[in-house]
Amino acid sequence: MENKSLTTCWPDICDFTQDLNIPPSRWKKAWSTHELSAKRLSNATHIFRPRRILETGTFEGLGTWVMARALAKNGGGEIVTIDYDGDPEVAMPDADWRNLDRIREENLASAQKDFPNVSIHFIKGDSRKVLPDLFPSRWNHWDLFFQDSMHFAAGIQAEWDIVRPFAAPHAIAVFDDVCLDWWKLGAHLTGHADFCLGFALRQITQQRWRFKSTAEGRAQFWIQRRD
Ligand SMILES: C[S@@+](CC[C@H](N)C(=O)[O-])C[C@H]1O[C@@H](n2cnc3c(N)ncnc32)[C@H](O)[C@@H]1O
Repeated sequence: MENKSLTTCWPDICDFTQDLNIPPSRWKKAWSTHELSAKRLSNATHIFRPRRILETGTFEGLGTWVMARALAKNGGGEIVTIDYDGDPEVAMPDADWRNLDRIREENLASAQKDFPNVSIHFIKGDSRKVLPDLFPSRWNHWDLFFQDSMHFAAGIQAEWDIVRPFAAPHAIAVFDDVCLDWWKLGAHLTGHADFCLGFALRQITQQRWRFKSTAEGRAQFWIQRRD
C-alpha cells in the first residue's frame, strides 16, 4: 500500500476521463456500482496500489471486476468479496435470487479468467457472520475495503467494528451509497434514518482517519488511516 494522502490524491481519484468497459448489468434491479463510483475505485487502486481488497456486497460482481482489472494492471493481488442472496428489505421471488447467483458466478469466473494474477474469492453469507471467520485466521490485514452491502448506520457499523482492527497502515475504506455529504444533512435528518454522522464523528475524527465525502455518482464516504 502506497503512503499517499487521500486528500492530496482526491482530484486524481475523481478523474473520470478513462473508459472502464465494464461488462453490462444483467439482473432486474440496477444495484451495481455507479460508473463514477467505479472509476473512483479503479483510480484509487492504481494510485494507492493495494494488494488485498475486501468488498462487502458483491451483487453481480461488476465492482469486483473493476477492482480486479485495476489490481491486475498493478501486477496482481487478492480480492475477497461477500454476499448473500435475498435482501431482507426487498421481497422478490426465489427464482430472481437464483438468477442473480448465476449472473454473479459467471461474472466472477470471467473476471478470474481475464485477470489471472488476481485471486478472487467469493464468500456466501451475511457479512456480519462470515467476516469474523476471515480475520485474522485467513487475512491479518486489508488495504482497501469497499463497503457496499448494507447502507444503514447499524449495518455499516457492525461490519466496521469487525474489520477496523485489521486495517493496514494508510488503508482506505469506501462506504458506498451512504449520502454523507454535509449539504444533504437536512434531508437525512428528516428522512430514512441511515445518516452516519455519529459514525463519522466517533470512528473518524477520534481515531485519526482522514475523510472525504462526495455526492457524485452514488454518494460515497472515503476514509484513510493517517498512520
Ligand atoms: C449495492 S449491491 C452491491 C453492488 C456491488 N458492490 C457493485 O459494485 O456492483 C448490494 C449487495 O449487498 C448484498 N448485501 C446486503 N446486505 C448484506 C449482508 N449483510 N451480507 C452480505 N451481503 C449483503 C445484497 O444482497 C446486494 O447484492
